[in-house]
Amino acid sequence: MKTHIRQKFIVGNWKMHTTAFEAEQLARGIIDGLVVADHVTVILCPPFPYLALVGDMLKGSQVALGAQNMYPQAEGAFTGEVSPTMLLDLSCGYVILGHSEGRHKLGESDEFINQKVVCTLAAGLDVILCVGETLEQRKSKQTEAVLDRQLSTGLAGVPSEALSRLSIAYEPVWAIGNDEHHATPQQAHDVHLLIRRKLSQVYGETRAQKMTVQYGGSVEPENAAAFLGQPGIDGVLIGGRQPESR
Ligand code: PGA
Repeated sequence: MKTHIRQKFIVGNWKMHTTAFEAEQLARGIIDGLVVADHVTVILCPPFPYLALVGDMLKGSQVALGAQNMYPQAEGAFTGEVSPTMLLDLSCGYVILGHSEGRHKLGESDEFINQKVVCTLAAGLDVILCVGETLEQRKSKQTEAVLDRQLSTGLAGVPSEALSRLSIAYEPVWAIGNDEHHATPQQAHDVHLLIRRKLSQVYGETRAQKMTVQYGGSVEPENAAAFLGQPGIDGVLIGGRQPESR
């Protein structure tokens, strides 16, 4: 079978961290220190209030701007929410959707995440769709079923033409920001195979082979290369907490 060179993603998910000053410092350090290789996309996802600030700094650099979420309407009476139109206005190219913190702490359903996926793609933004099982689900051998559901429902109605603007991030909930439980590169690799098999069932082998599937969950400078070295792992989604909260 012909192998495709898949785009690798390196994504910084800043979560609800940084002040404006810290956001500026962090973005400056990344812009100045970064050498971007071919077939690698680097994306920074700061909190909403700093999107404009960081976006301005990224102009002319090799780093793209992403958002951590959005509401699936162009505009309207949705107090506190941010629309895809607003994100496009700020030159955002990407949106993280289905993050486990939204699923488990804010109760976002697969159906609601699907609305966001469809709306984001229709608006012209690229989607990073996060999927992953909890520790309980893993222990009770439900990983495959959970991913199957998250992918089937999350991608419902997504046409195959839009797939080039969609990537998947496998983020086992038990390994996110967790000092005690880390997934091994082998565990991540095994689940990436399941994900690509599912994508292949839905969209066909050729399209599935072209899709970027990245890994996230306590990726650190020390272990990033081991994850990125696994066949089928096309990037890393890196969060992390501030040192004082560790
Ligand atoms: P982490 O977060 O690197 O802190 O585990 C990853 C994420 O939640 O996207």
